[in-house]
Amino acid sequence: MKKAQLIIDKNFIVGEIDKRIYGSFLEHLGRAIYTGIYQPESPLSDKNGFRQDVLKLVRETAVPVIRYPGGNFVSGYNWEDGVGPKELRPCRAELAWGSTETNQFGLDEFIDWCKEANTEPMMAVNLGTRGADDARNIVEYCNHKSGTYWSDLRIKNGHKEPHNVKLWCLGNEMDGDWQIGHKTASEYGRAAHEAAKVMRWVSPDIELVACGSSSSGMDTFAQWEAEVLDHCYNDVNYLSLHTYYDNRDNDTQEFLCKSADMDSFISSVVSICDYVKAKKRSKKKIMLSFDEWNVWYHSSEKDKLCERWSQAPKLLEDEYNFEDALLVGSMLITLLRHADRVKIACLAQLVNVIAPIMTSDTGAWRQTIFFPYMHASVFGRGTALNTIIKAPVFESKKFGEVSLVDAVVVENDDENITVFAVNKDLDEDIEITCDLRQFEGFSVKEHIVLTNDDMKAINTEAAPNNVAPIHSAASKVEGGVLTATLGKHSWNVIRLGK
Ligand code: AHR
Repeated sequence: MKKAQLIIDKNFIVGEIDKRIYGSFLEHLGRAIYTGIYQPESPLSDKNGFRQDVLKLVRETAVPVIRYPGGNFVSGYNWEDGVGPKELRPCRAELAWGSTETNQFGLDEFIDWCKEANTEPMMAVNLGTRGADDARNIVEYCNHKSGTYWSDLRIKNGHKEPHNVKLWCLGNEMDGDWQIGHKTASEYGRAAHEAAKVMRWVSPDIELVACGSSSSGMDTFAQWEAEVLDHCYNDVNYLSLHTYYDNRDNDTQEFLCKSADMDSFISSVVSICDYVKAKKRSKKKIMLSFDEWNVWYHSSEKDKLCERWSQAPKLLEDEYNFEDALLVGSMLITLLRHADRVKIACLAQLVNVIAPIMTSDTGAWRQTIFFPYMHASVFGRGTALNTIIKAPVFESKKFGEVSLVDAVVVENDDENITVFAVNKDLDEDIEITCDLRQFEGFSVKEHIVLTNDDMKAINTEAAPNNVAPIHSAASKVEGGVLTATLGKHSWNVIRLGK
């Protein structure tokens, strides 16, 4: 059997894990909102129209923060359309996705839904068709107590207490020409600076995210980040990153290496932030918000058949297979290995649209990617340890030598640690060992494995457990050393404790 070694030391830490790296995203797109989380006519919904079966699965993920309302959608959105009496809300031609937006679900409903889901909102403002004026108004509506036009409107709309939204994105993917109101880096940097300034004057404690590149493949990548931060370094707390991967070439081994791209993308953005820091002689460190990441490509042909201007069309309904779950697992490990700088990350998205949770009129089910995401969110809290991996490698066409084992060890608290590991080898099991003598008296509590003989296996409403985690007995601690077998092509969560 192939062998690998994980080397850790209690004192060598990457950083405290900000739980918000297990965030997700809900956009007014396709069936994410309508018939996803909100379906008033359904017997599965409560009096607010919130799908209870969906909420149950959302709570299972323990998602700590959800970005809303877009995405590309936000760059043409008038948030005022979505508040107040529902019968007065306008239907709009929604240009980002070519759909009809009824506005029956909006800001106040989202805040109410977040409370039911035990999560926090991360709002985005429209810097595409709008700017500083709209941005300060929405912050006033959400966070000002009372006695002003927008705060009193919130109260009139049934929300006496402020929503106290802490986290705000300054627009979305403003570097891309597909974006409504696309800007050059300096146009956007200026707009972000001005919006940030007045948003903070309304609500000084908010945290702000500036748009980085839509992917590391953008022609403007790197220069965009540097120029944007030149304008708004002092105004923002985070810079965003987005990335989506595909297996269009149907080369699974190569596909599984794509987390290496995410890893170098993060390192590059950290360097750019720190370059601007040095240039400005600043003491402040910009943190990263990886607020869109996932696999996305399965739905692209079907999307072309969607009727324009329909309401809640079946857009971006990727059916995720088992190999996608493995890459998602590796991407989660990558985020954890950068826990010192990545403080927010959002799996894009949450329901129906490139999502871990799917719905029909009769129920909701977990896609394959649900499992690594849920496991990391539930068991990946605490401190990320600097995990050195000595493992056999794969020679990737694009990324050179890539380790066949991705892994990270998380110290949850004084009595618990969790090892997350992916074996990317498609043919062979790999035995890992890890010296745990510093964790005296620890033994294996549970070894969870996600694997499948068929890399293309999916879950459906009729077969919701086709790909599901199992418990393994393939790990033990003896003489202070953990030995575990990572089955070929598998996602592993090894929970240890006293
Ligand atoms: O998540 C789907 C879309 O991907 C978002 O609307 C956009 O920001 C990105 O291009």
